[in-house]
Amino acid sequence: MKLLLSEKEIQRRVSALARRISKDFTGKEVLLVGVLKGAFIFMADLARKMTTPVKTDFVRLASYGSETRSSGKVKLTKDLEIPLAGKDVLVVEDIIDTGITLKYLHQQLKARQPRSLKVVTLLDKPGRRQVDFRADYVGFQIEDHFVVGYGLDCAEEYRNLRGIYILK
Ligand code: PRP
Repeated sequence: MKLLLSEKEIQRRVSALARRISKDFTGKEVLLVGVLKGAFIFMADLARKMTTPVKTDFVRLASYGSETRSSGKVKLTKDLEIPLAGKDVLVVEDIIDTGITLKYLHQQLKARQPRSLKVVTLLDKPGRRQVDFRADYVGFQIEDHFVVGYGLDCAEEYRNLRGIYILK
């Protein structure tokens, strides 16, 4: 494993994102929607660094109809418990790769008529996009490496690492 982003680099960037997001949402309450499982660590750190009031909820998505997500077929396997209507919603994701997951989720959530709907992703791999999707806030743009740690796994391992590593 090769270190890509150290714990210190990640924490510094998450703090900057939290400052920027808190500023953009001044005077509002933000509903953070974490995409399980990968986002749980990023969301925990981001939520604690934010200075605006937050509520939290989670969704889980799965690809179906094929082994890979590149089939483009995604479904919600765990839905939100909090209604979105009239809320300021920030989807929290660990990584955007093909963009298929987020594009689908964004459409689903938009239909529930939140007051606003934004997306933050810690990592972005723009070179891998299959559908057009851009997050409102991005932690780090990275090359097409298989990365683990800070929520990201390989067969459920490594999610608890404090840094992000390239798995060789
Ligand atoms: C990862 C990641 C995103 C999705 C991004 O989830 O957390 O949800 O893939 O890929 P896409 O842009 O190509 O759609 P994963 O399926 O690894 O599940 P996990 O979060 O439970 O580990």
